[in-house]
Amino acid sequence: MIEWDDKYSVGISTIDEEHKQLIGIINKAIAARQHIDNSKEITEILNEMTNYAQTHFALEEAYMVRFNYPDYEHHRKEHQGFSIETMAFLDSASKGDSKLVCEILEHLKKWLVHHVQGTDRKYVHCFKEHGLK
Ligand SMILES: [Fe+2]
Repeated sequence: MIEWDDKYSVGISTIDEEHKQLIGIINKAIAARQHIDNSKEITEILNEMTNYAQTHFALEEAYMVRFNYPDYEHHRKEHQGFSIETMAFLDSASKGDSKLVCEILEHLKKWLVHHVQGTDRKYVHCFKEHGLK
């Protein structure tokens, strides 16, 4: 299991709260990996990923537009990539891919490191300058 840690924090409370949801989804994938018949869990995980993408990316992108964030387009493309990947997983899930949970887990862990701890960090200065905390 992964626990929330300061190293994942962007220092903006509303965004951190939503990033904690991502950790929750990762932990569900870690749990589902232990179960042989995990198709129901996988469906739940993919639904949560879909909801997460819709609400969380919308929040970040709304701030980016409001604050004229210069790297908006690039950041939005990464978000779109996550959503596209989630749809591809949904497609594989409908075909009963038994190794899918491992792929989903790898994808989410990479997202945590490269996006949450990487790309998301880049907007912090801009967001804070505009008063977010
Ligand atoms: Fe982001």
